[in-house]
Amino acid sequence: MHALMQTLITQLRRKELTRAQFRYYAHQLAQCLAQQAVDHLKTTPVTVATPFGKADGIALQQPVVLVPILRSGLALLPAFVELFPDAGIGCVGLRRDEKTAIATLYYNNIPKLSGDEQIIMLDPMIATGGSSCATLEILTKQGVAQRNILFVAVIAAQQGLDVVKKAFTGITTIVAAVDKELNPKKFIVPGLGDFGDRYFGTE
Ligand code: URA
Repeated sequence: MHALMQTLITQLRRKELTRAQFRYYAHQLAQCLAQQAVDHLKTTPVTVATPFGKADGIALQQPVVLVPILRSGLALLPAFVELFPDAGIGCVGLRRDEKTAIATLYYNNIPKLSGDEQIIMLDPMIATGGSSCATLEILTKQGVAQRNILFVAVIAAQQGLDVVKKAFTGITTIVAAVDKELNPKKFIVPGLGDFGDRYFGTE
């Protein structure tokens, strides 16, 4: 991982951060992840006209659709919209039961897809992998090929990441940090606590 991302994630983990500081580091990190995401997208050669002639270059090959998993995925969205201003946005809402940590779907609104889109799925924390797999299930059932799915997260528990990668072998994942374990309440340890609560101020 890049040193910049490492320093940002180290700051983001600090329990004493104010809400503003947490949002600041989350956004900086999301910008780094968005830039890293571009390296995984398919490109096509293009030629453009400059004031003095022609220049060869590249352009993204596929339209991008961003899929934040509500609610924490919304924290990553502004940085990705900045980089992909034309992207479609599809929201998937999953609520995690506090006791069982099982995710249930309460909202699903994904734009009509042709099958050629590059999906970038956004969820800062991969704990058990339950919400990730539920969202990937929705996307693949809608006809999205796994090779067209890039999953971006900030911190994953190793076991959750393994669950996702085993169930969806064809997707690409970008994760800023992989942590050791989950506590009995299925929070990532050491992690950073409840990302959504810290970002939205609902602790
Ligand atoms: N979601 C969070 O916000 N934090 C965790 O540790 C696990 C899931």
